[in-house]
Amino acid sequence: MQVKKIETTVHIYTFDELKEEYRSLIEKAKQQVTNAYVPYSGFRVGAAVELDNGVIVGGNNQENSAYPSGLCAERVAMFYANAQYPDVPVKTLAIAAFTNGEFLSDPITPCGSCRQVLLETENRFEKDITVLLYGTEKTYLLKNVKEMLPLCFDKTRLIY
Ligand code: THU
Repeated sequence: MQVKKIETTVHIYTFDELKEEYRSLIEKAKQQVTNAYVPYSGFRVGAAVELDNGVIVGGNNQENSAYPSGLCAERVAMFYANAQYPDVPVKTLAIAAFTNGEFLSDPITPCGSCRQVLLETENRFEKDITVLLYGTEKTYLLKNVKEMLPLCFDKTRLIY
């Protein structure tokens, strides 16, 4: 029997320590919570995606009375970015969550399905996506999506 340890590197910043470009993208993600449609959870999530051409695309969670039919903010933003700019790599993603009248103090972390979708975009353009997970007290920065999904499934496993 062997044991393999897998490490994830998370860079932890206060908001003021982040560079201006990242602070600005986080502000855009925070603005996105306003348009979240969350009649069932009341948990508002905003996402902002910055593309290589400088365009910024926003998204927020969209819930549904048939619960699984709703979609997380990250996927709304990423699918929209890929739908509108199919040839432009994604540079950075920022997310923020707001509930009970305030933004979360700890960073919001994407669900498993969102990680898989974000990874697809990272692999599709063969370019690392910097991930910013905002919390009022600290923000996590990951150098790429793969850090969040180490034992991932990707196209190398598919036999066509
Ligand atoms: N949600 C997101 O939009 N992103 C996440 O990273 C976690 C969860 C949404 C899904 C649902 O609308 C609500 O938050 C509660 O789970």
